[in-house]
Amino acid sequence: MKKLLFVCFAAIAVSCGDSKKEEKEEIKIGTQTEIKEAPSETTDEAVANVTIEGNDQMKFNKSVIRVKAGQKVKLTLKHVGKMGIEVMGHNWVLLTQDADIAAVGQAAALAKEDDYIPTDMTDQIIAHTKMLGGGETDTIEFEAPAPGTYTFMCTFPGHYALMKGEFIVE
Ligand code: CO
Repeated sequence: MKKLLFVCFAAIAVSCGDSKKEEKEEIKIGTQTEIKEAPSETTDEAVANVTIEGNDQMKFNKSVIRVKAGQKVKLTLKHVGKMGIEVMGHNWVLLTQDADIAAVGQAAALAKEDDYIPTDMTDQIIAHTKMLGGGETDTIEFEAPAPGTYTFMCTFPGHYALMKGEFIVE
């Protein structure tokens, strides 16, 4: 009997906690709606702030980035690892839709003097950050290209097999 009472009490406590949580969520939603209606939101719509990380495991933390046509893209690449630029360099390179990722990757591997950006393939590159070592950050700004799906990659030798993703302009 004692056990049964405890179970009942626990059930009441749980349901009470739930209703409090719901109330909090409703308040939060209300606040978000207010912010969306504020005029300052219009200014923010013109800029897509994107942050992407590269790590010592040779990976980006995002495989898809979405922006809207007409937006200015402010993209920050953070190398969150500790390894040096010589062994685990990362950059973020956005390719045109007709670019061949393997061809760019192979040419880039031979372009160490040019920060792994092949100078004879810049017509296939829309935008790119600097090559970074662990702990470094670079921010670039560019206009979102025409709607469609593009490829982004890291051009450090051998990295694009794992370090690539889709850049979608809606
Ligand atoms: Co890399």
